[in-house]
Amino acid sequence: MTCSEHAGWAARRPVLREICLLSAIGVWAALLGAFVTPSTASAQTCTGYTVCPTIYLNRDNFPQAKQADAVIAQAETSLVGTLKKTTTEPLKRELLGGAILFDKTLSVNGNVACDSCHSRTSGFTGPISAFNVGPAAYNGSSGVRSGPRTILSYAYAPLAPTLHFDAATNNFVGGLFYDMRATGLVTGSAAADQALGPFLSPEEYGMPDPACVVFRMSQGVYAKSFEQVWGTSSFAIKFPLNTATLCSIPSTSNDPNPQVVPLVDADRVQAQTTFQNIGLSIAAFETTTLVSPFTSKFDFVRQGLSAFNAQEELGFQAFMGRTSSHAPCRGCHVASGSPALFTNFAAFNIGVPANPNMPFFNESVPDTFGYVANPAGTAFVDLGLGNFLRNSGNPTWAAMASQFDGTFEVPSLRNSARKPGALFVKSYTHTGFFQSLPELVHFYYTRQLLNTCGGSTVTVGVDCWPAPAVTANLDNRIGLLGTGFATEEAAIVAFLATLSDNAFPPL
Ligand code: HEC
Ligand code: HEC
Repeated sequence: MTCSEHAGWAARRPVLREICLLSAIGVWAALLGAFVTPSTASAQTCTGYTVCPTIYLNRDNFPQAKQADAVIAQAETSLVGTLKKTTTEPLKRELLGGAILFDKTLSVNGNVACDSCHSRTSGFTGPISAFNVGPAAYNGSSGVRSGPRTILSYAYAPLAPTLHFDAATNNFVGGLFYDMRATGLVTGSAAADQALGPFLSPEEYGMPDPACVVFRMSQGVYAKSFEQVWGTSSFAIKFPLNTATLCSIPSTSNDPNPQVVPLVDADRVQAQTTFQNIGLSIAAFETTTLVSPFTSKFDFVRQGLSAFNAQEELGFQAFMGRTSSHAPCRGCHVASGSPALFTNFAAFNIGVPANPNMPFFNESVPDTFGYVANPAGTAFVDLGLGNFLRNSGNPTWAAMASQFDGTFEVPSLRNSARKPGALFVKSYTHTGFFQSLPELVHFYYTRQLLNTCGGSTVTVGVDCWPAPAVTANLDNRIGLLGTGFATEEAAIVAFLATLSDNAFPPL
């Protein structure tokens, strides 16, 4: 695909247009140390794909990936060391969760941990600026495949309630992931249910069987600590002799409970229990102040220990609602409560445009493992919560699915501004279409006031916005705040920066 063929409006925004042009002439690769290739590239330079995505980046080429890897290695060593010395609960369980979260050996090729995608310095989201600018989604352990969405933060995730329908607001509340599919109904904790997802996702850890995760851990350095927390039966499973081999082949299954390791029934039950305890451990770690500390300037202001400057105060007031006729930010990103979580855990369609740079659109042919991530190819439309409800197996929920097509979880805004430097780019919203907070806030002010891009209106965010990825169930209470409010928009951005942990005072 050339730049002119590059579907959608993303290529019309200055930063993306520049990348498109640079990659077309092969310069971007040199600049960023990345490999960007058209679909004709050989398998040698585009590992694992039979047809390369339009934008293919090899994370191994990026210094930021190496930095994230160094942090992971250091955290793992330190957590395992402390874990082995700790005897008291709940600390032991929490540290165990940390040791699991930073453990790369639990991914199929031993090369990915949670923080490969959820780096603390970038607010627990993607650590590689060029990935956030370009594909917006990250390759998992298999080296091939990436999913259809951008990365959400795992900080504060354990505060999400179990997914339920709330008749008063006529909305679903709770669960995790953009489509809320980690309901909490498996383990009793949405965060624990969520934590089990990455292991089995073909696009993330790529493990072909939950028993493989248990098997790898049983061979690992903190297996004994796991038994001390969860019982000596945790790894009392008779694994077949070829388990290591079976577990080294990346998953080709989207089944929520894939099985490649033959186990007798009792061992299968034990493997399932141990797997769930892995999720519960991770959730326990996420609740600690190491991850969810409530140490933002906002928290200090709340406690009377600091004060907003004039711009932050103006932003806070605007966030809370300048006018009553439009949904103010706080309507969904709740700023009250102690502590405030900046989400109501519900789902809406705010009209985010699609992002054609996502490799997922090109993942319609089998990769070298024979897995087709996205049979629909460029026709793929992410229906979010509606799609989950339709396939949830719950007939009551399935009957409501169409009312929720195109709706996505309201993410917490804590740490959304946090990043390692001014030049670092993050991607926002589920498609990653937005790559800066000023642009997203401007969208909130003007989505319905500017034209839909097309014909003579082509400059995104200036005279138009691209059409929403899904028009069904569009929330029409946002996008109406007005044009010409640059000062107020900038103030909201300044306010959002007060939600970053450990920034004030320096801890
Ligand atoms: C390959 C990249 C990748 C890896 C590895 C990864 N994640 Fe994620 N994570 C994502 C993406 C992408 C999403 C959003 C996906 C969606 O909503 O469907 C996400 C979502 C989440 C969420 C949901 C937050 C919310 O507000 O709903 C949590 C929590 C989370 N991840 C924790 C983890 C943990 C724990 C691990 C390790 C066991 C992990 N992730 C490994 C990419 C990754
Ligand atoms: C009607 C509910 C609603 C209102 C009102 C609302 N938001 Fe959101 N917000 C959402 C939803 C839903 C998403 C995720 C949308 C998606 O990915 O499709 C989101 C995403 C965001 C994100 C991106 C977070 C991330 O991690 O990617 C930011 C920042 C944000 N909103 C800020 C604001 C601000 C500032 C306002 C007020 C101007 C506001 N929101 C008003 C529902 C709302």
